[in-house]
Amino acid sequence: MSPIGSSSLYTLAGRSVNRLGYGAMQLAGPGVFGPPKEPQAALAVLREAVAHGVNHLDTSDFYGPHVTNQLIREALHPYPKELVLVTKIGARRGTDGSWLPAFSREELTRAVHDNLRNLRLDVLDVVNLRSMLDTHGPAEGSIEAPLTVLADLQRQGLVRYIGLSNVTPTQIAEGRGICNIVCVQNHYNLVHRADDALVDELARDGIAYVPFFPLGGFTPLQSSTLSQVARRLGATPMQVALAWLLARAPNLLLIPGTSSIAHLRENLAAAELELPTDVVAALNGIVAQTDSTGASR
Ligand SMILES: NC(=O)c1ccc[n+]([C@@H]2O[C@H](COP(=O)([O-])OP(=O)(O)OC[C@H]3O[C@@H](n4cnc5c(N)ncnc54)[C@H](OP(=O)(O)O)[C@@H]3O)[C@@H](O)[C@H]2O)c1
Repeated sequence: MSPIGSSSLYTLAGRSVNRLGYGAMQLAGPGVFGPPKEPQAALAVLREAVAHGVNHLDTSDFYGPHVTNQLIREALHPYPKELVLVTKIGARRGTDGSWLPAFSREELTRAVHDNLRNLRLDVLDVVNLRSMLDTHGPAEGSIEAPLTVLADLQRQGLVRYIGLSNVTPTQIAEGRGICNIVCVQNHYNLVHRADDALVDELARDGIAYVPFFPLGGFTPLQSSTLSQVARRLGATPMQVALAWLLARAPNLLLIPGTSSIAHLRENLAAAELELPTDVVAALNGIVAQTDSTGASR
């Protein structure tokens, strides 16, 4: 199997990673709750990703819960030394699958130990503190108390690097006053560009920006412009959406999620896709035509 074509590299957690990585959330059961229907297929996707050169994997113990971490362990442990595993803490799942905050010292400490056990690691490469002040998007409010707990766990040697997720620029500034922040994981894609200025600011500071929902997440991206561009380039709309992100800024590290080997291969091949300048301009115009539901005309 060939490695990820011409994917460029970026330093994350002290290691050089391919900018095209993989997010494991789609490997859990429906609603990111419970096990997948076909665990062997999920294991195969993970092995295929790494065999193709993916060395940045995103996960969390609240996917399943515990399901994606256990799949990663089964598929990939002992891990290749170049693999950077990024997990996140700060949420827990209700018995009905709801997403609940878990920001107390006890919950955060337990979450780090759960991740260590489920991933079978002595130290976690990167842990993102996922703000749950609003489940669906960044909301202002201090993150000092939970981040101080995570920084304590880092000092104890359980966590190498710390990132933030679902946060505002004010919270990132607050966080950087508490500990070194190596990455920010927020909702961002071709049609959801609230973080445009933040992406550029973090690029200047050498901090990775890892967009979640790069393909639109639970509502896959749809746009006539995107489809037209894809036809013209002989690519798929999802490949164009990923290539646009790769071209957007050098600090964007992609973690598209899929439960399908065919989609995984398609997504990784986006690293080969060069977007002409006029195409980038056309894609940049999509956001102006997007309605409040995220659908574009
Ligand atoms: N920090 C946070 O709060 C947060 C929130 C959400 C996600 N995340 C992370 O971000 C990662 C990416 O987000 P995501 O997986 O939710 O969304 P995504 O990558 O934007 O999209 C995933 C969806 O697109 C489909 N898909 C993938 N490749 C495709 C292709 N080539 N053609 C057609 N459909 C395709 C997948 O279905 P198939 O399975 O059928 O391919 C799935 O329904 C997650 O895996 C997770 O690690 C973080």
